[in-house]
Formats: sequence, structure tokens, C-alpha cells
Amino acid sequence: MNGQGDETGCMIDLVRISKTYLPDIKALQDVSLSIRKGEMIFLTGKSGAGKSTLLRLLSRMEKPTKGVIDVSGIDLNRISPARLQQLRRRIGFAFQDFKLLPDRTVAQNIAMAMEVSYTRTAVIRMRTRKLLQRLGLSDKYHTRTSELSRGEQQRVAIARALSNEPELILADEPTGNLDSETTGMVMDLFRQYNERGATLIIATHDESILRGTSHRVIELREGRIVDGGRGRTPSRTVHP
Ligand SMILES: Nc1ncnc2c1ncn2[C@@H]1O[C@H](COP(=O)(O)OP(=O)(O)OP(=O)(O)O)[C@@H](O)[C@H]1O
Ligand SMILES: [Mg+2]
Repeated sequence: MNGQGDETGCMIDLVRISKTYLPDIKALQDVSLSIRKGEMIFLTGKSGAGKSTLLRLLSRMEKPTKGVIDVSGIDLNRISPARLQQLRRRIGFAFQDFKLLPDRTVAQNIAMAMEVSYTRTAVIRMRTRKLLQRLGLSDKYHTRTSELSRGEQQRVAIARALSNEPELILADEPTGNLDSETTGMVMDLFRQYNERGATLIIATHDESILRGTSHRVIELREGRIVDGGRGRTPSRTVHP
């Protein structure tokens, strides 16, 4: 399954990507970016800068208007439906709007990703319990997600994204509804997955996360990268 991505150590390569929405909204403009396998990076920038759009392009939920995106050596413009399905099993996406099924329980929502990969029921239960415990949600296993607070729903979305032990984790504002202690829990979990080899791309405004991080911070402004795109030492641009 892996192509040149593994040989070069490059998990993701975006070459001159633009995304325009009708009638003429330039969500991303001429974005080039390389992310190494096993890297954990932060994507930041003001509301509307293009962070979520970039994550959607990486998971091929949307196609770019221009440019090439390569994930694990696979050109997403040319990927076959079967290969896309295989690739998606290796990607965990925690969406900004969670995308949980409200009439299903926490455990059922988390199990969804694993069931697609034919994971054994006993393994699904074990992983679900472990993730819920790590995220402070052990007592919510059987609760319908419609009955959860926003912050709890956010953590379920994160648990679902991690449940399949993906190689690539895309997390869109994963701590937007969380207090500092719960944010710490989520970040510890992300760090652990990263230490085990996963590549993480985290879109965030959260200054408490960005401040003092040793990871690369990529800043988008009006659809363009203004800082961090080509593997420089993280140096934060301060908005005027
Ligand atoms: N489906 C869409 N149709 C039309 N315009 C869109 C669509 N999705 C995003 N946009 C526009 O593209 C731009 C980038 O949006 P995006 O959601 O990527 O920003 P963001 O950086 O994630 O913002 P936020 O921090 O508020 O989540 C915005 O101007 C937005 O209005
Ligand atoms: Mg967004």
C-alpha cells in the first residue's frame, strides 16, 4: 500500500494547492507544504484562513481546484475508489463539528471506524473503554451522544478518530470546547500516538497549546501559508 512516501519519509506533500469555492471564494491559494512521517504539526490562523479546508483536502473529502496532493506516495487526484477506501482506514479525522450520530451511544459512535476495518468485537470494546478512560468519559459508554455536553461530544469525536490507531490523525480544533485540564488530557493522548509513530496535523487557535511548543506551527492567512510551510524552526508570527 505504501508508495514512495515511506522511502522518502514524507507522509504528505502538497504542491501549489488552491481551493476556490463558488462563486469566487479563495479558501486556499498556492499552498505548498511537506510533512514528514511521524511529525506532529499545528495549523493555525484566524477564522476563515483555510485550516479546515486544508484538512478536508488531505482526507480527500474535497478535491483541490489546482495542484497536487500526495499522501503516503499516493496522488489524491488520481486515486482509485478502492485505494481511497484503504487510505481512509489509515486516517483518523476529528471534525470541527464532530459529525457524531446523535441517536447512537458513545460506544457505538466510536466503534464505527473500527467496524469498517473489521476489528474484532472484543478489541473494539477494549480500545473504546481505554480511550474513554483516557479522556475522562468512562461513565458515558452507554450514553447517547445527543445527551452529552459540547466538550464531551468533542472528546467522543477525538476517541473515534484515534480508535483505529491511524497512521495519520487530522484534528480540527480538537480542544475548542475544553477546559485546560481536559485539553491537557487530549494533548497527552495525541503526544502518545505521535510517539508511537503517527503523523498528526492539528488545526487550532488555542494559544495555550501553541505557546512554547517544540512542534512546527504553520500559519495560514487568507488561504496562504505565512509561516512554517517548509520545515523551518517554529517561529510564531504575531498578528497586528
Ligand atoms: N463549502 C464551502 N463553500 C463555500 N465557501 C466555503 C466552504 N467551506 C469553506 N468556505 C470558505 O472558505 C474559507 C476558509 O474556510 P475554512 O473553514 O477552511 O476556515 P478555517 O480556517 O477552518 O476557519 P475557522 O477557524 O473558523 O474554523 C472561508 O472564507 C469560508 O467561508
Ligand atoms: Mg475550521
